[in-house]
Amino acid sequence: MNNIYFIGFMGTGKTTISRLIAERLNMKWVDLDDMIQQKEKKTIVEIFRENGEEYFRNLEKEVLTDLAVERGYVVSTGGGIVIIDENVKIMKESGLIITLVASPDVIYERLKDDQSRPLLQVPNPLEEIKRLMYERAPFYIKGDMIIDTSFDEPDMIVEEILKEIEKRKNGKGTC
Ligand code: S3P
Repeated sequence: MNNIYFIGFMGTGKTTISRLIAERLNMKWVDLDDMIQQKEKKTIVEIFRENGEEYFRNLEKEVLTDLAVERGYVVSTGGGIVIIDENVKIMKESGLIITLVASPDVIYERLKDDQSRPLLQVPNPLEEIKRLMYERAPFYIKGDMIIDTSFDEPDMIVEEILKEIEKRKNGKGTC
């Protein structure tokens, strides 16, 4: 199978869900943020602070481009990967894109004590979540399927995704 890419806003559960999907489908799992951190030998926070967002976006595109030629990976991407059109094109051409969504309030609750997201270290994180989400919504809806993670437990979400993948394999996909 080609790769499966998980996209979506920070805190929608991409890491947790994609890892479980990889296990269930017996595919390899990778997190693009981890790859970037290993490549730079710095944390995401340090990269943003010392090199800026544009530098980070270039790295993100580089690691995605390298991965897109591989097969059999379930990929957890960073929430902002979609803001570069070329990245969406690369993912579309090399696999299936699954978008995870959650409400701003849920995301805020999940991330309010988390200091590892540089873009949310602002005086009013909830407002920033809403603003960024609104800005990025047109990109997130480009996924092949859209799954809301606001309310259900990861295991249920995984079952829902596996069913959708199965439908698509049988040519019954509606997304
Ligand atoms: C970002 C999301 C983060 C990380 C970086 C930028 C974004 O990844 O790539 O902090 O622009 O939304 P997660 O979505 O895994 O938190």
